[in-house]
Amino acid sequence: MRTQVGIVGAGPAGLLLSHLLHLAGIDSVVVEVRSRADIEATIRAGVLEQGTVDLLSEIGVGERMKREGFLHHGIELRFAGRRHRIDLSALTGGKAIMVYAQHEVLKDLIQARLDTGGQIVFEAEGVSVYDLTSDVPTIRYRKDGEVVELHCDFIAGCDGSQGVCRPSIPPRLLNVYERHYPFGWFGILAAAPPSTEELIYNLHERGFALVSTRSRQIQRLYFQCDPKEDIADWPDARIWHELRTRLATPEGDWKLIEGPITQKGVIGMRSMVVEPMRHGRLFLAGDAAHIVPPTGAKGLNLAVSDVRVLADALSAFYRTKDEALLDGYSATCLRRIWKAQRFSWWMTSMLHRFPGSDAFQMRVQLAEFDYVTGSRAASTALAENYVGLPLAA
Ligand code: PHB
Repeated sequence: MRTQVGIVGAGPAGLLLSHLLHLAGIDSVVVEVRSRADIEATIRAGVLEQGTVDLLSEIGVGERMKREGFLHHGIELRFAGRRHRIDLSALTGGKAIMVYAQHEVLKDLIQARLDTGGQIVFEAEGVSVYDLTSDVPTIRYRKDGEVVELHCDFIAGCDGSQGVCRPSIPPRLLNVYERHYPFGWFGILAAAPPSTEELIYNLHERGFALVSTRSRQIQRLYFQCDPKEDIADWPDARIWHELRTRLATPEGDWKLIEGPITQKGVIGMRSMVVEPMRHGRLFLAGDAAHIVPPTGAKGLNLAVSDVRVLADALSAFYRTKDEALLDGYSATCLRRIWKAQRFSWWMTSMLHRFPGSDAFQMRVQLAEFDYVTGSRAASTALAENYVGLPLAA
């Protein structure tokens, strides 16, 4: 089998790349190990930057997002019960964010690909990539018991941090920059209407908490926990007690709306970047090349900006045979990625209790809150990063 661009992974990066290439008249095949049902049901991130919203709308996959997503013009920061709204739109010349779950974006992208004759191979087994530095890099997999060799001009490694593409690059050619955080997030879905119109990022001396939403009937909530926390130790009543304690305001002017908890899970927190994001004719995009802690809500958005750059570079190549944009792919992406890494690390550091941190550290974090909320310059810096820096940042 032959295609122009072989794409490993049907996550946000892979599916969006495939659709962007289709719009540029370039043929691709997406190869994915998971089933469509599994992909469409996995709960992940939920915040889309302004640039992501604009892109999905421009390419015709924004209909349902605009109908069912929640457009937010601000976020709340809450420190030790003190509340402050960051007016994202006022501080960024009218930009906003959309709360719309990643798996909903994936459903829309899968539908768009299938409607336009796109090829997605779900439940591929034994996927591997080879001949990466030749002119015919190849993806090999098994489907329904048969071995398939997919010969490509280029391969996009969009298969996440546990995928096969990154480990196919000789380790001596890659620099890996990594930071592990000594805490995780306990995440729940609760069948209860939103407690808040806008997201609340909360620091309490017991640790971080986040109030987000999924729909008019479902809330998404998180609280900082031990990364090895066992969900069996957390019956519903204990979870609600912890969230109520961390989110309480001295005036008691805010109430957490509770309901049956339908899902529980613990998420690890780390920052990671590999450089360069290219080896021969293999290009890494999204989580295959970088991981951010979820505090800045950047993971999905970085995948989107990577594949925008890659789609432009590949279209330029097929139009003119000019490889300059492909050669610049890694450096172009990494400039924006490192700024998002910095922001995610900063939000994480400001909003969490680090084990062993003392009263001095807490005072510094409170001062940071005072500064960020009290200074227009500092609020603007937070806002412009949160709604998303420009593509060529
Ligand atoms: C979510 O709704 O899942 C969510 C929102 C904001 C974050 C992270 C996750 O920073």
